[in-house]
Amino acid sequence: MAAIFPARIFSLAAAAALLIAVSCPGCDAALSTKYYDKTCPGLQPVVRSAIAQVVAADPRTGASVLRLFFHDCFVNGCDGSVLLDDAPGLTAEKAAGPNLGSLRGFEAVDAVKARVEAACKATVSCADILALASRDAVSLLGGPTWTVKLGRKDARTASQAAANANLPGPGASLASQLASFAAKGLSARDMTALAGAHTVGRARCQTFRGRVNGGDANVNATFATQLQQGCPAANGVGDSSLAPLDAETPDVFDNGYFLGLAQQRGLLHSDQELFSGGSQDALVRKYGGNAGMFANDFARAMVKMGSLEPAAGTPVEVRINCRKPN
Ligand code: HEM
Ligand SMILES: *[C@@H]1O[C@H](CO)[C@@H](O)[C@H](O)[C@H]1NC(C)=O
Repeated sequence: MAAIFPARIFSLAAAAALLIAVSCPGCDAALSTKYYDKTCPGLQPVVRSAIAQVVAADPRTGASVLRLFFHDCFVNGCDGSVLLDDAPGLTAEKAAGPNLGSLRGFEAVDAVKARVEAACKATVSCADILALASRDAVSLLGGPTWTVKLGRKDARTASQAAANANLPGPGASLASQLASFAAKGLSARDMTALAGAHTVGRARCQTFRGRVNGGDANVNATFATQLQQGCPAANGVGDSSLAPLDAETPDVFDNGYFLGLAQQRGLLHSDQELFSGGSQDALVRKYGGNAGMFANDFARAMVKMGSLEPAAGTPVEVRINCRKPN
């Protein structure tokens, strides 16, 4: 065990064993931990067992579902809009630049939804399922857990333009990442904690090609050379080959991402921007040295992000099929 898992995982596991109490003053008062207590009392165990099956079959898909939640909440609030397919009169967010060929985990969400529909017909929104499944994926991968407030509704519309405008890309500077999060009411500390989601999952070569082929000065040379094998400089060669966002423990939700940044081993340019002589360096070092602090801050920031609401007047419903309006 000890040879495989470095000590930092044990300290995070200890933190994760406690349910992290999260308060969120100013967050949406309409959401409630008791929302489905009467209408679907068995909801949470159903979601957890369904997503546990997904994560056991493929841990990366747990990461993919977590990313879906981020891409949902940052585009007109957490309203399940990211899950909608193209349809007449509806241009899906799936084809937006940050999403196309990149977002995955839709089948996993469908599988969870099917189990929830079987237990409680036409009752639980896809947006709430995404919030619960993301929380459960994080904890199943070894990270913290938290209480999810419920009562989100699903949008009947999507906005590809807002997805393009609101989601930061892999080339983003620190300033531009901070601005994207500030636009959602999230602080620099929230942002750096949330970026710690990159402790799990994978990215495609085309998102880090420049960084590992001479484009960035602040890259660990050994690390860059290794990555060039699967991701050479030439555009079109190996574009979709994958590398872990946290090289050491890509399927464990620990604080390894931050330890990697401190060694200039961030995979994306945007990752390394959090540790490049700027305002987030000190926090990156703290999270690298204190897994419990990261776990707490991540849980708190997920609750904040999960409270982003669709604009007033957005037509909403509880979708039966997460891919299309009823
Ligand atoms: C801070 C700004 C962020 C930027 C610029 C960013 C960018 C990216 C990029 C470019 C990828 C790889 C996509 C691909 O290769 O197709 C990725 C993957 C991922 N992102 Fe982010 N991200 C950010 C924040 C977040 C946040 C806040 C979360 C969740 C809370 C998150 C969760 C993930 C996960 C889990 C993956 C791996 C997904 C998988 O393996 O399928 N990211 N991100
Ligand atoms: C580069 O990564 C190695 C581990 O692969 C590490 O020992 C070294 O300190 C890193 N270099 C820098 C400049 O951080």
